Amino acid sequence: MDFGWRFHLGDDWGAVDKLSKAGVNGGPATPGFGDVSWRKIDLPHDWALELPFDANADANHGFKPVGPGFAGNNVGWYRRAFSIPASDQGCRFCIQFDGAFRDCRVYFNGWLIGHQESGYSSFRYDVTDLVKCGGDNALAVRVDASQFEGWFYEGAGIYRHVWLLKTGPLFVEPDGVFVYSQFSNNVPEGPATINLEARLQNAQTNAATATVAWEILDPQGQTAARAEQSQELQPWSAGTVLQQAEVAAPALWSPESPHLYKLVTAVSSGGKVVDRTETEFGIRTLAFDPDKGFLLNGHPYEVKGTCNHQDHAGVGAALPDALQYFRVRRLKEMGCNAIRTSHNAPTPELLEACDRLGLLVMDENRLLGSDAPNMARLEGQVRRDRNHPGVFIWSLFNEEDLQGTDSGARCAATMQRLVHSLDPTRLCTAAASQGDEFQGVNSVLDVRGWNYHLGSEDSYHRKHPRQPEIGTEQASTVGTRGIYANDKERGYVSAYDDNAPPWATTAEAWWSVYAVRPWLSGGFVWTGFDYRGEPTPYAWPCVNSHFGIMDTCGFPKDNFYYYQAWWSDRPVLHLLPHWNWPGKDGQDIDVRCLGNCDEVELFLNGQSLGRKPMPRNSHLQWSVKYAPGALLARGYSAGQPVTEDKVETTGAPAAIRLAADRASLHAGAGDAAVLTVAVTDDRGRVVPLAGNLIDFDLSGPGRILGVGNGDPSCHEPDTFISPQTSRRLALNDWRMKKVSNPYGQLPEVQENFDDSQWDKADVQSDTGPLAPNESAVFRTHFDATPEELAADGLAINFGMIDDEGWVYVNGHLVGESHNCGKGLSFNLRKILHDGRNTVAVIVHNWGGPGGLNQGAAFEIPDPPVPVHWRRSVFNGLAQVIVQAGKDAGTLHLTARADGLAGAAIDISSADDSPQPLLP
Ligand code: GAL
Repeated sequence: MDFGWRFHLGDDWGAVDKLSKAGVNGGPATPGFGDVSWRKIDLPHDWALELPFDANADANHGFKPVGPGFAGNNVGWYRRAFSIPASDQGCRFCIQFDGAFRDCRVYFNGWLIGHQESGYSSFRYDVTDLVKCGGDNALAVRVDASQFEGWFYEGAGIYRHVWLLKTGPLFVEPDGVFVYSQFSNNVPEGPATINLEARLQNAQTNAATATVAWEILDPQGQTAARAEQSQELQPWSAGTVLQQAEVAAPALWSPESPHLYKLVTAVSSGGKVVDRTETEFGIRTLAFDPDKGFLLNGHPYEVKGTCNHQDHAGVGAALPDALQYFRVRRLKEMGCNAIRTSHNAPTPELLEACDRLGLLVMDENRLLGSDAPNMARLEGQVRRDRNHPGVFIWSLFNEEDLQGTDSGARCAATMQRLVHSLDPTRLCTAAASQGDEFQGVNSVLDVRGWNYHLGSEDSYHRKHPRQPEIGTEQASTVGTRGIYANDKERGYVSAYDDNAPPWATTAEAWWSVYAVRPWLSGGFVWTGFDYRGEPTPYAWPCVNSHFGIMDTCGFPKDNFYYYQAWWSDRPVLHLLPHWNWPGKDGQDIDVRCLGNCDEVELFLNGQSLGRKPMPRNSHLQWSVKYAPGALLARGYSAGQPVTEDKVETTGAPAAIRLAADRASLHAGAGDAAVLTVAVTDDRGRVVPLAGNLIDFDLSGPGRILGVGNGDPSCHEPDTFISPQTSRRLALNDWRMKKVSNPYGQLPEVQENFDDSQWDKADVQSDTGPLAPNESAVFRTHFDATPEELAADGLAINFGMIDDEGWVYVNGHLVGESHNCGKGLSFNLRKILHDGRNTVAVIVHNWGGPGGLNQGAAFEIPDPPVPVHWRRSVFNGLAQVIVQAGKDAGTLHLTARADGLAGAAIDISSADDSPQPLLP
């Protein structure tokens, strides 16, 4: 349900909940509520990203004016209308949110259907009893980001997907499939036993015999195994159907070979298939050994991981799925084989990208605690994520104040028991910031996690030699891409691997320790990508973290090559810094070389500066007197030259270059491409100091989603939005006639009813004119021009209908209001015509004075104002994220800047949407 939403920032309707009666909540929760003046948006959406930076806002949240102290920006309303065909009568419906930040109140057809506080959990509501089949349905969501849940940028709004789930009355529960493989003695040889589980619901008045037929498809799509099991389900009950299958000689899943199997679960009853669902899974073994560390498929497997928050340049927390894949690809290119979803439940599409492209996942829960809400969230997360082969361990929390206490230990043990009861295949750890300490959570956890405290591991391991260990969070090195001196004013940290906050270390320091201690299982760097907020070691004007091995766009900093050298098995050689140092001729430049060759020889303008052996897990360093030209490193392994890297003094910025990560997209599914914008000299070399401002223009069926450049102190907007404006024409000349019964079919609401003899009515007044228990019909007429009728979305607004009313336009009921609704607005879709139109409102007043009050208006939205996209490059580079629209075609992006040759690129968008979309 990602497309076709309306959004309004602000809580203009006060308390919309009507506690005295069911299903009649007010304001935007009202089904017919007119939202035509609200901005049109598609999900995922993050309104925090759209707000300007503000020096008074919270540094850790990236200086965006949301959260405590910014009441006006904290509540957003979303609405989505959709129709369901009459033929769906008898189906069951559920609305599922993958996650929204945060504190959501969800209304469906006027009912409050649920409240979810967590900004990271998935949640869903059954709406079968409230759905209108053969009519319009209205979903409204109030999202309240007044409170923070973390100390990092969290976004605001419905920043993940929303789904409408439709099934028959006998169905597989959402997240009701569980599939996992086992080998004899956990040795991945011979056949794998596949454990199959389907949780069914029978929402019928009759008992039913359900037969579940499972089919396992191998990575080539061929049937690898089948199984079947039947079970009798009582009326209105649920049951779990279990079975086993065997896959002979399975292709094992690993990050290097991410072979995926597909489980098709088909439920039949009375000879008919009534539900069918597909689940991707992998076959592999996991184990932790206190001496050998983590074992994947029976072999020691060093975890080379990064921790990451979920935001990205240009889009904030609202990532299109394609960006999850982009980020996983970037991490894998670095040699990374694992990700920790710090510090919260991830979006499901990240897990899918990890399964398919090959990345292990430490799936982290937000908070420590065995309280009911926390346990329910943890259970939901485990049920949702346990089929993903990438998930290799659960992390119960990150750095909790109570981690060293007895109570903390009891909570962790309770959480761990819950996880084990739901998932017999994986162990638990937690990202605890403790040193050589066993008290608290470390005394109960399956696997001891290490956040920092480098140097304490050996003594702990000596004292607790039977407990497996893993580096849950290490490094926290700080650096800015392409910067080689600390600059507090501008908020930049040198990208030499020299800087880390007091609790942290450089990349080289932690990896040198972990690389040679197999029992530590490897670990996770803080972080793979920069993220908004936590601008350590600085504050304003710095708005981003510097912890990333890559910047917020995924452009590599120099440390990328340190990890690539020691984490991947390809030959790597990387020289730093760049070689543009005007005015520094003859001065010493600190030159470093990262790589994994045996030896490296350095040349400046062809002159050798010496050949040195590369120390393992370390780097090489030279002091070089600067002269413009070319600095070249040649790497040798086993005495032979294997690779080279070169930095050259470039000319001035001369041209723009555009490159896309993908040449074609899927239309209609929110698919997106990531474009690199480079400023080059006249020989096509990226100018490392360039900061040109570039203008972008996109034509064709798509849009620009966002722009970024990785500069941690850049305050240029990431996104440009066209505000929705509208004209309101006051509706005057009302007439009124009292009626004895407001309910039922009144001829007075018909379009051509003669009201010329009725009394004149003043709808501007604050209250009146009806006495208690009186009813009346109010009528007026207004003209609409063909031009006005062409506007996208028209509405009629009322200041107040006191106490209840039914609004008709040209004889059609457009909405109703109960309980003295204020600030009401009703959509006028396809109801108006050219010339004179008629409004009739039946009003019934229960008590005190009442009537149609505080004004009425006809509202005409203005056409959207085109926006102008632009962004500076930072040290030569910027990024544009482009999203395909609903139609197939060619997206054409142009980039222009003063004094530079422009560039253009085409991306095709094909009509092969893999997902069914709700119209
Ligand atoms: C850790 C914490 C992370 C981040 C990091 C910065 O202690 O778990 O969320 O704040 O420090 O170094």
